[in-house]
Amino acid sequence: MQQFGIRPEEPDDWWEVEALYDLCFAPGREALSSYRLRDDVPPVAGLSLVARDGQGILAGAIRFWPVHVGDHDALLLGPVAVHPTHQGEGLGGYLIHAGVDAGRTRGWQRVMLVGDEPYYKRFGFARLSGVEMPPPTNPDRVLGLELRPGVWSGVQGAVTRWSR
Ligand SMILES: CC(C)(COP(=O)(O)OP(=O)(O)OC[C@H]1O[C@@H](n2cnc3c(N)ncnc32)[C@H](O)[C@@H]1OP(=O)(O)O)[C@@H](O)C(=O)NCCC(=O)NCCS
Repeated sequence: MQQFGIRPEEPDDWWEVEALYDLCFAPGREALSSYRLRDDVPPVAGLSLVARDGQGILAGAIRFWPVHVGDHDALLLGPVAVHPTHQGEGLGGYLIHAGVDAGRTRGWQRVMLVGDEPYYKRFGFARLSGVEMPPPTNPDRVLGLELRPGVWSGVQGAVTRWSR
């Protein structure tokens, strides 16, 4: 990742990151149920990252939100996106590893997301059973990663908006 400058997202990056997400995701992304968990809740400070190429152009970004799963806390990974001109260079994987590592360092125990298992299983994500995203969400796309062994065991219930 030497060709990219990677640093925490700052307030001035916000709309550029939004534009990258608009480019990379299907129209109407904000209608997805996962966005209801983000409404009026700030992303987790320090975990969201931006990657810029040698010209300073935004190449990739990742954000994390806090959520509750039943009585437990979790990081909701995403959105993560890499500009189409840089996809397949390992940047998405780098951002995911870096963000998850930062979450572990800050004491978070578990991460979840809604996404393609064939991509995310390489990072250790696996299907979560009994963890219910707001509908409509395909349960096969609800995936989790343990930052300490066993921390998803017995964690079930509705995923709800952060309320602290
Ligand atoms: C998904 C995304 C972030 C991956 O970023 P990236 O920098 O291209 O990923 P990496 O270079 O780390 O990894 C590339 C590998 O992931 C695979 N891959 C990418 N998206 C995939 C998917 N949805 N399902 C399965 N494999 C996928 C590629 O085929 C490639 O495989 P290889 O290593 O065998 O060649 C990027 O493709 C993207 O922004 N996509 C559009 C937005 C999106 O779908 N975001 C994820 C929402 S859940």
